[in-house]
Amino acid sequence: MSKPRVYVTRIIPEAGLHLVQEACQARVWEGETPPPREVLLEEVRGLDGLLALLTDPIDAALMDAAGPQLRVISNYAVGYNNIDVPAATERGILVGNTPGVLTDTTADMAFTLLMAAARRVVEGADYVRAGRWKTWGPTLLLGQDIHHATLGIVGFGRIGQGMARRATGFDMRILYYDPYIQDHPVARELGAQYVPLDTLYAESDLITLHVPLTPETHHLIDAAALRKMKRTATLINTSRGPVIDHEALYHALRDGVIGYAALDVTDPEPIPVDSPLLTLPNAVIVPHIASASVATRSQMALIAAQNLVAGLRGEPMPACVNPEARRQL
Ligand code: DGY
Repeated sequence: MSKPRVYVTRIIPEAGLHLVQEACQARVWEGETPPPREVLLEEVRGLDGLLALLTDPIDAALMDAAGPQLRVISNYAVGYNNIDVPAATERGILVGNTPGVLTDTTADMAFTLLMAAARRVVEGADYVRAGRWKTWGPTLLLGQDIHHATLGIVGFGRIGQGMARRATGFDMRILYYDPYIQDHPVARELGAQYVPLDTLYAESDLITLHVPLTPETHHLIDAAALRKMKRTATLINTSRGPVIDHEALYHALRDGVIGYAALDVTDPEPIPVDSPLLTLPNAVIVPHIASASVATRSQMALIAAQNLVAGLRGEPMPACVNPEARRQL
């Protein structure tokens, strides 16, 4: 029997790539940036499976360009807002993602950003590099305490819970909001308190976002939400850029509506170098690297490959977001 035909939209870590290349007839896009739309449209023709990245918009037109034999789309990410999942389900295409393996690595990074912002680490490093450090100063680069501060977690899924776990080590008061989780054993174990969103905004010193990007969460953080936060609040985002209205965030940071922002994700990505946000001293922005540890990216590659191969063989996928799409293979 001939091997299934698949396309991999970027070079992924060896652990996953090797598995895909062994089990499938695989073509791989070797560019540093994502394959252009016209390349993708051409490459998907006649494919059985696609291993995509969060930078590849996978819509109905692309699925139709592939043809009816396309059975699996495996995303090399836990988030899958780049894929039109209802369109995939309608066409009997299974969609895979990589939950679990990146939870702690992402929570580590969100906490790193929280600390970097609260204690002005990036500003301090820039200050030293610029040769501006003349002496120890009583009021030099004063920041916010993290210990005993109130942390507001928006979205109490795996990564949000990971943040709560880390916060206990700093004796923080932990508030959370999640429309689907008002009571959770992890919240009880860690002493995290469910509160309405407006209460979380009003009472938190540091607010961290852990929601998927959906029509409901698009611009969840807009000008009105920012105005409900403390003037000293620090906002951390490691979820998806469009959860925050960036123009509103720029004005809020510039005008002192909130104190600081630390972003791993932006809208758009990459953030344009002339974005006004990059001119602000109270914004720290890194290039969507929250899951970027050697071990985690390798595990993500393995799960993405296992999803692809298992789905093509008609076997249970390690992580499928639309099992209802399974059809007779
Ligand atoms: C994801 O997996 O969704 C992250 O944004 C990248 O690891």
